[in-house]
Amino acid sequence: MREVERLAREVGSTLSGDPWHGPSVMAVLSGIDAAAAGRRAIPGAHTIAELVLHMAAWTRETTRRLRGGAAGAPAEGDWPAPRAATAEAWRAALAELRLAHEELAAELVRHDDADLDRPVAGGQRDALGEIVTLRRTAAGLLQHDAYHAGQAALLRKLAAGAASSSAPSDTAAAPAAPVRLDDDMRAVIAAQRLGYAATVTPEGRPNLSPKGTIRVLDDRRLFFCDIASPNTRANLAANPWIELNVVDPLSRRGWRFLGRATLHAGDEVHRRAVEQIDGEEGVHYHVEAVVVIELERALPLRSPGYDHVPDEAAMRARWTGLRRRLDEEFERHLAERRGGR
Ligand SMILES: Cc1cc2nc3c(=O)[nH]c(=O)nc-3n(C[C@H](O)[C@H](O)[C@H](O)COP(=O)(O)O)c2cc1C
Repeated sequence: MREVERLAREVGSTLSGDPWHGPSVMAVLSGIDAAAAGRRAIPGAHTIAELVLHMAAWTRETTRRLRGGAAGAPAEGDWPAPRAATAEAWRAALAELRLAHEELAAELVRHDDADLDRPVAGGQRDALGEIVTLRRTAAGLLQHDAYHAGQAALLRKLAAGAASSSAPSDTAAAPAAPVRLDDDMRAVIAAQRLGYAATVTPEGRPNLSPKGTIRVLDDRRLFFCDIASPNTRANLAANPWIELNVVDPLSRRGWRFLGRATLHAGDEVHRRAVEQIDGEEGVHYHVEAVVVIELERALPLRSPGYDHVPDEAAMRARWTGLRRRLDEEFERHLAERRGGR
């Protein structure tokens, strides 16, 4: 792998992966709502929302310098003011932060390794008179992220403390409680034998693919078998975050699971998972690795179609009929294809 690609991965990892120094920026920010983000927990210090906009601004400024721009303050200012303390503005700030990092990672991989020791920012020199290189500029941004993520983590703790002492029902700022797979989650997974796994490439692009082997490992963990998932596997090696969606097509509802993955090969977890899948499927698969997902969040998925039907039984009845018609149509298409050959 080229060194610029490694640096781009570090950008992704600091933002939303598993950096060595602690939770990533996004992990610190996850579960924080607009009110907590806008709360000035320490008089005279920045709010979490201000930190997020500041990080986004300096990430964009770093990209601008890598593209040949001279050193300067970010176009939107050093500390852009949050637009409003609304959920929408907070979502937009988080999206800005993510996009800015994706742009930086994409810019880094456009360079050659030889560029890393070349000057950027119009020949800018540091306090000791040393030329600032592309490598130092990118590394500086990672340090900047880590520094402000630490501040946001402390503010988050303060916000959680304030929330629990003044309003016990406000749990939005509290760290996510560990997920326990309940009966419904287990039943939906067991009934589907199919879900979709989303990971993120080192360049910050989405990667989504179907997995028919998603199963429950224990109360807090899911797994699936990597039989033919080279991209998912490569993405997880750089960034362990993964989201799985499992939806029942007749009930038009299901669950979305977020967690961190670890890969198991040649161990007891691998042996047992292969045995289970082979037993259920009645065939033997060569499984490269078993992807075990430690769950951090489980959220229900529900079709907006429920606005128009009274309950799940009615939904299933409607879709059982519809499904039959759609299957017949698809069968006709398959027959035509066979006939056309
Ligand atoms: C219905 C269905 C179920 C699948 N189940 C699995 C699975 O459990 N494990 C696996 O490795 N690949 C499975 N595949 C194949 C992968 O989805 C496919 O090879 C995909 O291109 C892998 O992409 P990725 O490398 O981005 O994960 C399945 C494909 C389909 C259509």
